[in-house]
Amino acid sequence: MIALATTIVIAVASVCLFVLIARSCWAISINLTQNRMRSMALRSEQGQLSVELSGKLRRTYFDLSMSRRKVDWREVFVAKIEQESQDVRSYYFIDVDHEPLPCSQPGQHILVERPALPNIPKAFRCYSLSDDCAEGYWRISVKKNSEYPASVSRWLHDDVKVGDRIRVRGPSGAFYLRTDPSRVLVLASAGIGITPMLPMLIEALRRGFNQVQVFVQFRDVGHMPFVDSLLDIASKYPQVRMNIWVSRFPKGVGKSTGSPFHEGKFHALSLIENLESFSDADFYLCGPEEWQTRLTEDLVNTGVPRSSVAYELFQQAEKSTPPAQEVAPRNVHFKVTGTTAQFEKSYPSLLGCADKNQVMLESGCRTGACGSCVVRLLTGKVRYTREPQFPTKPNEILPCVCVPESDLVVEA
Ligand SMILES: Cc1cc2nc3c(=O)[nH]c(=O)nc-3n(C[C@H](O)[C@H](O)[C@H](O)COP(=O)(O)OP(=O)(O)OC[C@H]3O[C@@H](n4cnc5c(N)ncnc54)[C@H](O)[C@@H]3O)c2cc1C
Ligand code: FES
Repeated sequence: MIALATTIVIAVASVCLFVLIARSCWAISINLTQNRMRSMALRSEQGQLSVELSGKLRRTYFDLSMSRRKVDWREVFVAKIEQESQDVRSYYFIDVDHEPLPCSQPGQHILVERPALPNIPKAFRCYSLSDDCAEGYWRISVKKNSEYPASVSRWLHDDVKVGDRIRVRGPSGAFYLRTDPSRVLVLASAGIGITPMLPMLIEALRRGFNQVQVFVQFRDVGHMPFVDSLLDIASKYPQVRMNIWVSRFPKGVGKSTGSPFHEGKFHALSLIENLESFSDADFYLCGPEEWQTRLTEDLVNTGVPRSSVAYELFQQAEKSTPPAQEVAPRNVHFKVTGTTAQFEKSYPSLLGCADKNQVMLESGCRTGACGSCVVRLLTGKVRYTREPQFPTKPNEILPCVCVPESDLVVEA
């Protein structure tokens, strides 16, 4: 009897133990599975994250390396010159050794050096590449800006001939096509601001954008550079909606239905009236500063995110305008040239101070757009008088758009 009872107790205990062990194993396995699933999810999230991150890093690196690229100066041959309109001429450059010239991001510019003239020091100006660079040549298209003897555009128009060698550097610049082809691309320019839009448009067609809206503002029929190329593109590519606005439209010329020509000036509403959603479109603007500032503000006021508007300023800031906020006199030491100068309140910028003290700095735009004046700040603090468009490293400054806030030592 006792033996039977003992057997029963042992059997019940074994069953309980078995159930207990089985439940624990099950719990453990569930836990393990959940953990594995969690860690798989985490791994895939991390994977996704690291893919996104590495994508972003690559992109950032690419963006910076492309925009910051300060390629060496090179000599190029002027292979061809073409008159595009009353005051715009195109210059085709080829490599002196007949190697293909390096390609740019569509929208970038090169820096052109005008050699010193009698009693006039050499000067540098930026010019956007106005054609696709796939064929190995570079084209710039220059509006004759003034008859002023030091004017670089005047020199290009009046003195530079086919067969001349000139010095250029680039391409570089932070204004170029970055939009994903799934988005709507809006390219809006006024006057000579058309130049960076042309390679962007060609690249957009190459990348297979579904919708590209082009808005061009011209003064009159005598000032319509590249109008034939624009009409040609519009007739071949239905995804391009071409809008050519002419301020002084010729009298008596009728406009047929569906014609790309419009009389007058376009404004922010013209750019957005055909868009299904503002959040799907990216805007690229290039033209005179006042036009651009107004258009950007109007777009933002109608609901376009500011981050969707990219722009490039062509206009050079007036050379002699002092900053709005007065600057206290400061000592500026240019370490490389060994020059020490006092920053006077009449100087428009640190670059103006360098100019006055015969410290030669490259300067293509004087608006913080091109990066050609970038220098290292060794000690001291500066204040920007205009938000720079060109990205700089933490120890770098753009002298064309900053003034000292303390005594400075700069590597120049
Ligand atoms: C990124 C970028 C891209 C550009 N792309 C084009 C383009 O594709 N086509 C085009 O025609 N233009 C383009 N420009 C404008 C171009 O760089 C010149 O500003 C323009 O040709 C006028 O220069 P200029 O010397 O002929 O004119 P100028 O009449 O001599 O001067 C124009 C302005 O520069 C100031 N200035 C005068 N002397 C100097 C000097 N020594 N240093 C600095 N500033 C001075 C003047 O105060 C005046 O406001 C671009 C500008 C930038 C910033
Ligand atoms: S001159 Fe172009 S950024 Fe200073």
